[in-house]
Amino acid sequence: MSSNGHSSSHIPFVDLVTLHRELEDDLLDVVRSALHTAGFIGGPMVEQFETNFAAFCDARHCIGVSSGTDALRFALIATGVQPGEIVITVPNTFIATTEAISQAGARPEFVDIDERTYNMDPLKLREFLEIECSLDRETGRPFHRQLQKTVSAIVPVHLYGQMADMDPILDLARRYNLIVVEDACQAHGAEYFSAKENRWRKAGSMGLAAAFSFYPGKNLGACGEGGAVTTNDAEIARKIRMLRDHGQSKKYYHDIEGYNGRLDSIQAGILRVKLQHLSKWNEQRQSCARIYNELLAPLTGEIIAPYESTSSKAVYHLYVVRTAYREALQQRLSEAGIGTGIHYPIPLHLQAAYASGGWNRGDFPVTEAAAEQILSLPMYGGLKREQQERVTEVIAEFVSTHSTRRQMSAAAHS
Ligand SMILES: Cc1ncc(COP(=O)(O)O)c(C=O)c1O
Repeated sequence: MSSNGHSSSHIPFVDLVTLHRELEDDLLDVVRSALHTAGFIGGPMVEQFETNFAAFCDARHCIGVSSGTDALRFALIATGVQPGEIVITVPNTFIATTEAISQAGARPEFVDIDERTYNMDPLKLREFLEIECSLDRETGRPFHRQLQKTVSAIVPVHLYGQMADMDPILDLARRYNLIVVEDACQAHGAEYFSAKENRWRKAGSMGLAAAFSFYPGKNLGACGEGGAVTTNDAEIARKIRMLRDHGQSKKYYHDIEGYNGRLDSIQAGILRVKLQHLSKWNEQRQSCARIYNELLAPLTGEIIAPYESTSSKAVYHLYVVRTAYREALQQRLSEAGIGTGIHYPIPLHLQAAYASGGWNRGDFPVTEAAAEQILSLPMYGGLKREQQERVTEVIAEFVSTHSTRRQMSAAAHS
């Protein structure tokens, strides 16, 4: 057995045990310090982390909250999304994106994704705004004709660690007076080259606000739950500080009804320790992605590697390949002791939770086709080249037997 509790040939989908062993002393110091001061809620550990994470994201403000879902919900409420309005996002994301929209009282609407990046397709966004909506001259905002609702915001999701194509999305937002809240829950440290501004921009610095998750498996993960909102707007930051803490402006003075949505001090202290290593871990992930790309190159046609545009520095929260025989390949990898995942197998518009939303199969064909073919391979900072070689060896063997079998059955039928 190896130090992470698995047999040495097992390659986990993600390995959090080794990472935490390496940081154990520093992490235990955080817990000790919280115990010795009884500083469990708020205080310097939270404030220090917020300052450091804001700087990391090139944002003016960071507000620690209790999860990525709360971060999204608070960001939508604080940026001014009103109950009954429409917020546009993509169907290829984790349900937290749309839960937060619904919980802010709005209705999620979807636009399809780009086939190569799996992120929001700005052309589909433009079509939605131009074809399905008319312009409300009073608000300057699109009014959805069929649903009879105003569109107020867009939530682009920086999925798998790659930022959405923000220039055209922000252009449309400006033209239609729309709020943009980035779902950066999978993209801590990702960058996007804005041709418009002629400079690289960090995830979390481009929208009116952005949401991050510190769920343990994220590139920056807590040892429990956690999240944060980043924004450059002081007033939005102030509202989010109130929303996370029962709407108080000061103790027991509740200007609004809020939530219990704070980041606790132990998690903040842990995140502060880990943040110091995040750039290194992201570089390791980028290097792992390059190695996979190189090892999978001979299988092009059978296995489609992730696409990263020249205007993107992805942080590879996930390394997602695409193949026509995903189920059989996943099964083969599992037999070989290799962990994989599917992100996500059922597009949101086809989930039972949204059965009353009026969506049907065929509404978002790019997302639907991807959902049947995508497969996430093992990806984490400490993943070794030998392990990646083993993963790609099993894939190559599988591809060669599978394509021979396909050829034989085609010959038998001809
Ligand atoms: C794209 C996306 N949005 C939102 C969330 C919600 O974050 P959390 O699980 O911290 O609430 C996640 C994380 O799981 C996510 O991957």
